[in-house]
Amino acid sequence: MARKIVAGNWKMNKTVNEGVQLVEELKNELAKVDTSDVTVVVSPPYVNLSEAVKTAQGSPVNVSAQNVHQEESGAYTGEISAQMLKSVGVGYVIIGHSERREYFGENATDIAKKVDAVITQGLTPIYCCGEVKEERESGNQNEVVGGQISSELFHLSPEDFGKVVIAYEPVWAIGTGLTASPDQAQDMHAFIRDFVSEKYGQEIAEETSILYGGSCKPSNAAEIFSKKDVDGGLIGGASLKAEDFVGIITAFN
Ligand code: 13P
Repeated sequence: MARKIVAGNWKMNKTVNEGVQLVEELKNELAKVDTSDVTVVVSPPYVNLSEAVKTAQGSPVNVSAQNVHQEESGAYTGEISAQMLKSVGVGYVIIGHSERREYFGENATDIAKKVDAVITQGLTPIYCCGEVKEERESGNQNEVVGGQISSELFHLSPEDFGKVVIAYEPVWAIGTGLTASPDQAQDMHAFIRDFVSEKYGQEIAEETSILYGGSCKPSNAAEIFSKKDVDGGLIGGASLKAEDFVGIITAFN
């Protein structure tokens, strides 16, 4: 069985102090509920990571970065390597988010290398894939997502593939208030699991956590998470308030 994971992507939100406060609030709220079945992750901006890791210590909250550079070191002004992320105690790294693909020109080659860099450092990639609105409307979503996964992940050995968390985020549902219906999410997650199974076999496919992302909130999380192939969520806006994020985490219960 795949691990259940609820990960918050703070995007470009929260100063260092605001971030510490949010992690503190999460710790307090999570102390009141049973989180033994769910891995909880928050992804603050780079400059908050160190304080977030310190604040989260001894709690169920794990810390992720939102991006990484593929090289280990060198003349890449403004960039951060996986080694650096590891040195601040981060355990996860979001890779290939649609906002990075769209606004920062990340391509399949960059993303495949980022996945490698993160795995080499022993960190867990939270790999994002998903189709845009026109691709969904023309019924091409499976080809698009299958194409992303095969060109960005299928170079991995079975052992390394087993370390990847996949987040399916239909781009048309991100920050729009439009959520994929639970059936649309299930259909895509089942497609992804079958696709992985064809390449790596059923056992690895069943162990792979496949998260849904896109306007997920406390009011719709339970129904989406109840679907067989949905193993959790990657949450944007609703991860910025402890109450909402905990409402989503407890949607499994
Ligand atoms: P929203 O939950 O704000 O739609 O964002 C989803 C997302 O992009 C998480 O990475």
